[in-house]
Amino acid sequence: MSNAIPPSEVRSFRNALGAFATGVTVVTTRATDGSDVGLTANSFNSVSLEPPMVLWSLAKSSRALPIFAKAPYFAIHVLASDQEPVSRQFSRPAPDKFVGLDIERGSGEIPLLRDFSARFQCRTAFQYEGGDHVIFVGQVEAFDHSNRKPLVFHGGQYALTVDKRDEVIPEGPDPTSSFSQDFLIYLLGRAHHQLFLGIRRELERRGLSEQQWFVLSLLGVSDHRTQAELDRMLAYTGKRVTFELLAGLAAADLIRLGGAHDPQVRASLTEHGRQIVIELVSAAKAAESDATRHLDPVELHVLKSALRTIVRDTDPGLPLLLAPTDAE
Ligand SMILES: Cc1cc2nc3c(=O)[nH]c(=O)nc-3n(C[C@H](O)[C@H](O)[C@H](O)COP(=O)(O)O)c2cc1C
Repeated sequence: MSNAIPPSEVRSFRNALGAFATGVTVVTTRATDGSDVGLTANSFNSVSLEPPMVLWSLAKSSRALPIFAKAPYFAIHVLASDQEPVSRQFSRPAPDKFVGLDIERGSGEIPLLRDFSARFQCRTAFQYEGGDHVIFVGQVEAFDHSNRKPLVFHGGQYALTVDKRDEVIPEGPDPTSSFSQDFLIYLLGRAHHQLFLGIRRELERRGLSEQQWFVLSLLGVSDHRTQAELDRMLAYTGKRVTFELLAGLAAADLIRLGGAHDPQVRASLTEHGRQIVIELVSAAKAAESDATRHLDPVELHVLKSALRTIVRDTDPGLPLLLAPTDAE
């Protein structure tokens, strides 16, 4: 009886295996000719505490198989969330996969990466037949560990972890409590307003409205826009960019207007205007880092990417921020 999976189901089997989220490791050793060898592997797992043992498996088709089969030592480096480039570097065939990496030497002169989330230096204890792979079991002789977040592999893609905080939403008699705790619109709105408190004070100090600040910051990214363009680009705020609003900025010497009352009149930042934009952008950056001080880099990344998706999916068809001006 053949135990092979029918060819039509190989992909499906791969997909089923991909449902299991793993970390990503780089396994390294040294060949008998003195060359350094390594590959990306997500087949790593713990085996035993007493004695400390771990395992990983290597494809029989790998050019590295005869080298690992003879190697008395190997090292497993569990990669951190920012080490996707290292994973890519070790998953592609190359004459020297260690180029540009900082290494030190372990038992048997094996190459050890200095950058990792965890590192296990192993003596090869057992090798087992495992279908089209060979399973290597290593006895851990030394290990190192940092608290960096891990790089994850899931469903054939790299992923990041976010801690699950068990936040219990009180189901009190107050019907607004679940609204205030769980409604995205409430949370986004409140986060926006609170994040903006400090900036609003800066604007008041300079006698500027929020809409005028949006115009100035837009011109800071992409100067020399017509009133009509600015109006379209800021349509998402629900407020208009009127000629009067621009005239107010011109009177304060923050922008220069290339003409009189006309939607095609172009606005450009003055020197003074550019200086104010720089000051307000730094205030906004300070407010952002203060507001996100308890988020780790992965959470911030996930938050921003989720917000980008919401911005895209709710976009009423606004022109791109850096689209060419009407004249171009
Ligand atoms: C996330 C990821 C996990 C991998 N896990 C394994 C593994 O556990 N075992 C294995 O033999 N190959 C694994 N590979 C593939 C090897 O990294 C790749 O085939 C090898 O580095 C190719 O280089 P080589 O030709 O020098 O052997 C993995 C690749 C990636 C991207």
